[in-house]
Amino acid sequence: MNGKRILLVIGGGIAAYKSCELIRLIRKAGGAVSCVLTDGGAQFVTPMTLAALSEEQVYTSLWDLKNEAEMGHIQLSREADLIVVCPATADLMAKMAAGIADDLATTLLLATDTPVMAVPAMNVRMWEHAATRRNVERLREDGVIVLHPDEGPMACGEYGEGRLPEPEAVFGEIEHLLDSNGAAQARPLAGKHAVVTAGPTHEPIDPVRYIANRSSGQQGYAIAGALARLGADVTLVSGPVSLETPRGVKRVDIETALEMEAAVDEALPADVAILVAAVADWRAESSPRKIKKGEAGGTPQLDLIENPDILAGLSRSDKRPGLLIGFAAETDKVVGYAKAKLDRKGCDWIVANDVSGPKGQSVMGGSENSVHVITADGVESWAQMPKRDVARKLAERIADALA
Ligand code: C5P
Repeated sequence: MNGKRILLVIGGGIAAYKSCELIRLIRKAGGAVSCVLTDGGAQFVTPMTLAALSEEQVYTSLWDLKNEAEMGHIQLSREADLIVVCPATADLMAKMAAGIADDLATTLLLATDTPVMAVPAMNVRMWEHAATRRNVERLREDGVIVLHPDEGPMACGEYGEGRLPEPEAVFGEIEHLLDSNGAAQARPLAGKHAVVTAGPTHEPIDPVRYIANRSSGQQGYAIAGALARLGADVTLVSGPVSLETPRGVKRVDIETALEMEAAVDEALPADVAILVAAVADWRAESSPRKIKKGEAGGTPQLDLIENPDILAGLSRSDKRPGLLIGFAAETDKVVGYAKAKLDRKGCDWIVANDVSGPKGQSVMGGSENSVHVITADGVESWAQMPKRDVARKLAERIADALA
């Protein structure tokens, strides 16, 4: 954040108090904050508080001639690397979506070409109202980054989606948006739909036992999150894992390969599909009741049935996304086998990782990965890096390919 400037627009909601903590976090990381307070916002926090925390003048009125002489409202927004509207109330987002400019905050939001992030906070009914849904969709189409609110108890006593995310989470999103040069990343995948599969599938043997592959789901979840950050509308079809849904991603939970196949089909059409899931190759004829030990006078016989290959099926379907990417976990001849898989499965890219030996064990369930990206043009081998970075790099490459 060193030397980066955030213009923080504070709307009128009880969550405004959390923006005070956000200022502290940005300052602590070396960033600067200029605050613009709406009339509503000033009912919840005072200009004095914000001035003390930001150590800068706080702007409240469009008609403050002294400020206009010193720093016009247009310049105020253009000096910033990123504008953060936090909390973004239903009213403020409605005005932004409609292009209304009737106070300092809305005027500078209309007068700027600086990237804007809105952090909504409101009552659950207001968040779910058709008008707010429409406004959020419109803002996203316009390129505004609208974060997803948290779910939980609300100041008004109700429970649901609409809570402002914790300041640390908002700060994390701001950091992500600012690349190393401090310029806010573009949203090259805005308007694109991506389908990602992740995690293992569980194939029941009976109500208490199942067949599965080893997969934590981390790489697939990171890819879904990275695509969403670049503006894509992401559907994540997930097997049973214990991971938090990345912000802004629509998650569909499934258990078996057949359910995953149906959920992927349901999510289409898509511009890109990245199938990261470790789908079980076989399923068993599942017993409706628990098989008792020694029941069949010995060990039970499992008759395995081959599961559909979702990736291969998708590549042949008339709903095939323009860009189809498979993953491959191999223990030997990693690149050779992956190249063969590219042809066999009919996908455009294969991302291959080596899961042999102790290194492989650290890939499965670990936080790092070292991958080879195989395309018709050749092989690119990436250095070992955190799965989050693999995801970001891959998402950027996808954005280039779809541009
Ligand atoms: O054949 P293998 O499992 O090694 O292929 C891995 C790739 O194929 C991954 O992208 C995985 O998600 C996908 N796959 C699939 N359906 C299966 C098996 C694998 O989509 N039944």
